[in-house]
Amino acid sequence: MALSGHPVSFWIDSTLPSSYPALSQDVSVDVAVVGAGLAGVVTAKLLKQAGKTVALIEADRIGTGTSGHTTAKVSALHQLIYADLIDQHGPEKACLYGESNQAAIARLADLIAADNIDCDFEHKPNYTFATDNDGLDQVKAEVEAAQRIGLPATFVGSLDLPFAIKGAIELPDQAQFHPRKFMLAIAATLPGDGSHIFEQTRVKTVEDEGPCRVITQNGPTVTAQDVVITTNLPILDIGLYFAKTYPQRSYLVGGHIDPNRAPQGMYIGVGQGYRSLRTTPTDDGGTLLIVGGEGHKVGQDDATDERYQRLEDYLRSQFGVEPEYRWSGQDLKSFDQLPYIGQLTPAHQHTFVATGFSLWGMAKSVVSAMVLSDRITGVENPWAELYEATRPTPFVTTTSIQKNLEVGAHWVGDRFKGLFDSTDSVAPGEGKLVTHKGGKVAAYRDEHNQLHTVSAVCPHLGCIVAWNQAETSWDCPCHGSRFSTEGKILHGPAVKPLEQKVCD
Ligand code: FES
Repeated sequence: MALSGHPVSFWIDSTLPSSYPALSQDVSVDVAVVGAGLAGVVTAKLLKQAGKTVALIEADRIGTGTSGHTTAKVSALHQLIYADLIDQHGPEKACLYGESNQAAIARLADLIAADNIDCDFEHKPNYTFATDNDGLDQVKAEVEAAQRIGLPATFVGSLDLPFAIKGAIELPDQAQFHPRKFMLAIAATLPGDGSHIFEQTRVKTVEDEGPCRVITQNGPTVTAQDVVITTNLPILDIGLYFAKTYPQRSYLVGGHIDPNRAPQGMYIGVGQGYRSLRTTPTDDGGTLLIVGGEGHKVGQDDATDERYQRLEDYLRSQFGVEPEYRWSGQDLKSFDQLPYIGQLTPAHQHTFVATGFSLWGMAKSVVSAMVLSDRITGVENPWAELYEATRPTPFVTTTSIQKNLEVGAHWVGDRFKGLFDSTDSVAPGEGKLVTHKGGKVAAYRDEHNQLHTVSAVCPHLGCIVAWNQAETSWDCPCHGSRFSTEGKILHGPAVKPLEQKVCD
């Protein structure tokens, strides 16, 4: 199947690579922040503003993980959420949720204004639209729920989209921006006066024994009073966050649109075949239309090519736009719809996490930064209790049991894949699970007929990885770790690469 777009995130392609040094000697700071996506960068910024020295530590480069692969809508309207939140948690908590996400938009705007950051930040209305009667009922219920908890939401009957809708909820004064331009600009303000950024520095573990010790694979250690872990799924296997969330993958395509035909807001549909839409300015003076969708649980199927194809077809048929970019993003959904922001466990007094943003991570990253920086600096925060990471969570719900059973099924069932296949059966351009000397091997043969073989056993908790043809990667169906054909980590929670295997 021939896909058209260049396989890279527009946000990464349109910014220069960062080049902060790797950690090369022991360092001591007030707070170590592990993971330089939006949550990590803003947490480090707020802590430094509050007078703390910080070390921001990134395994790869700033903003190249989940925050560099998003649609980058900053909103308190999360498709459909408020009717569910009121049902599940009551109106007071739903109100705090809305209030915190609205406050995040304002805080982001303040940060941008204070440092005069050029990151294409714009206030826009955000819409969730329905194209059928079922969706319309859900949208109307969402308008009612959002208004009940005090959000300025309204129902609208039409939108500036090139197809008919049944109705939509509008939330005004939301925002969009270029996330990597923002993260790089904020990061540039961090080093100095005892604060640091270290890239290409993978953290192995954190010891929370006052002071905390952040142990890296590079060798040296960062000593800190407090540690904040913002690595999508926490890299530490403590606190069972891998069982309290599940990884969701979604896909995006983008291409230039005639600015006169470009829709003016941000949009997302409801239902299985939802599409998420926004535009962004490009450096050549043009306008890029981004369409996202096709979300699914990681490891649920491997029809990645077809998912991209459907998005590309949509871009062409609905907007007459030719795809130029395609990329995918991955985030963790929490079972009670609230992110986990706070202490790693009740026993970890100085190690904090932020995870489970459930695909709406831009505003929630900023919420996390506000909550955690207040926590560390001893300031009372109105949303800390709602999001406390150690809160009793509904492990035993139909959804959580089903998702964790799926993990168990993968752990057992995937061990039988490729049982009778050898490396000879791998065609050029193909990745396949094979068996070699009784061991499970992930084998990829490149276009030059060169074979690349690594262990198929995920170093996180031992599931068997699966081949992702469209992105040429090995993906773990259990908690979403991803690896290159050479075994290099592309996405955690794994902190070790796939082991090399020689199959001669
Ligand atoms: Fe957990 Fe692979 S990501 S076992």
